[in-house]
Amino acid sequence: MAAGRAHTLNVLLWSALGIIIAIRLPLLPIRNETKRQLGYPPDSLLNVTELATRHGYQCEEHNVVTEDGFVLTVFRVSSGQRCSRTQVPVLLVHGLLQSADSWLDAGPGSGLAYLLADACHDVWLSNTRGNYYSRRHLTLDPDSDAAYWNFSADEIGYFDLPAILDYVLDRSRADVLNYVGFSQGAGTFFIMCSERPNYCEKIKLMIALAPATRQTNTKSTMYRRLTQAVQGWETLLTTAGLHEIFSKGALSQEFVAFFCHFTKFTEGLCDAGLNKFNSVVAHPGSMSNETTRVLFGHFPAGTSLHNMAKYGQAMTNDKFVKFNYGHEKNLELYGTSEPPEYNISAVSPPVVVIYGENDGLVDTKDVEWAMERLPNVLEAVLIKDPAWNHMSVTYSSRVGEMIFPKINEYLQIYSST
Ligand SMILES: *[C@@H]1O[C@H](CO)[C@@H](O)[C@H](O)[C@H]1NC(C)=O
Ligand SMILES: *[C@@H]1O[C@H](CO)[C@@H](O)[C@H](O)[C@H]1NC(C)=O
Ligand SMILES: *[C@@H]1O[C@H](CO)[C@@H](O)[C@H](O)[C@H]1NC(C)=O
Ligand SMILES: *[C@@H]1O[C@H](CO)[C@@H](O)[C@H](O)[C@H]1NC(C)=O
Repeated sequence: MAAGRAHTLNVLLWSALGIIIAIRLPLLPIRNETKRQLGYPPDSLLNVTELATRHGYQCEEHNVVTEDGFVLTVFRVSSGQRCSRTQVPVLLVHGLLQSADSWLDAGPGSGLAYLLADACHDVWLSNTRGNYYSRRHLTLDPDSDAAYWNFSADEIGYFDLPAILDYVLDRSRADVLNYVGFSQGAGTFFIMCSERPNYCEKIKLMIALAPATRQTNTKSTMYRRLTQAVQGWETLLTTAGLHEIFSKGALSQEFVAFFCHFTKFTEGLCDAGLNKFNSVVAHPGSMSNETTRVLFGHFPAGTSLHNMAKYGQAMTNDKFVKFNYGHEKNLELYGTSEPPEYNISAVSPPVVVIYGENDGLVDTKDVEWAMERLPNVLEAVLIKDPAWNHMSVTYSSRVGEMIFPKINEYLQIYSST
């Protein structure tokens, strides 16, 4: 009993600190001009278009409007070199708290967006609702309307992905596309297939990078405590008017961006901290020092408290289910007292699953649990590097060597119409 209470107290204190640094403060964000003078690495201050252009690529910006009025930014990146672009577009969907930048932060030669553009793919990068590129709505104001933030991965899968698919297919005049989803970006794809199977049919091939479904076996204590604290506090915090968490420009992001570039020593602490957060055992050296300094200029990119709370729920449920509102409200919303399970068997396209043994956020056991339910797994690739962790997928300097060849091999096969 006493141990239980001490644990609860510990979680509460820890989360209070987390939440204080997660909220937006009026003095922030720090102006880019000031950051340049303070020696922030240039790439950390650039948006996707500026980054791509700076490194010799071409980039287009597109706006996509969802059925429920959210306005999302989608980028299209191509090689500046002569390329006869593949006919089937490839859509990259980032993970929780990330943005399209995450595919470029490791720089040319390592960032998956660059590598795919080099291989002449027609690369589209999405931004899911709530991150700083997609913090817009036709009628709701994210700064003052709580209703804007009333979403989780459930809505991202149901509304964002179908709208983006329709848009990309229309613009690229293609009938089908290939989909690469990382973590939440893969889990939300399964949600879409479960809830709107006709959209799933528009996908020729899906590549699931460390797909997040149920998270019963997640080993990262920090991640567990953080998401479960938000879950426990959701009602209280939203009543107090807090709906958005870990947004870009909030103290949480401004602090890490400053701290991680400040000195060699703090940079090393950052690397160690991120390692502890997303690995089972530490894996220093997977990211270059430059990437450590750059990525925190774009990460965390913001989401809703409600979405973080859903991940808190996923930690203790051995099924992949919709948001759990409690018996009464579940009955009202879903017609059942327990939240309905997503139907992973409805993921009809061929799927290649790529995952790592040292992933502290999405455990191999849970990936394997999802794979047993996926009806059409082409190949399950356990990455050869035993120290490969969650964030390595987007930020490792070894993306080109460890996961790109497999991704490209399949995309080439599935790129002719
Ligand atoms: C990116 O930066 C460019 C140049 O400053 C600006 O024109 C563009 O609107 C920005 N795009 C987004 C999506 O923020
Ligand atoms: C959020 O969504 C739930 C479920 O659809 C609904 O019951 C609730 O009233 C909504 N809350 C707000 C603030 O819009
Ligand atoms: C990165 O920084 C660490 C110390 O902060 C240093 O030991 C290491 O050599 C650096 N790595 C590279 C590739 O510069
Ligand atoms: C799940 O999807 C599969 C494939 O579409 C279908 O055959 C099955 O009936 C679905 N299961 C449920 C419980 O809806």
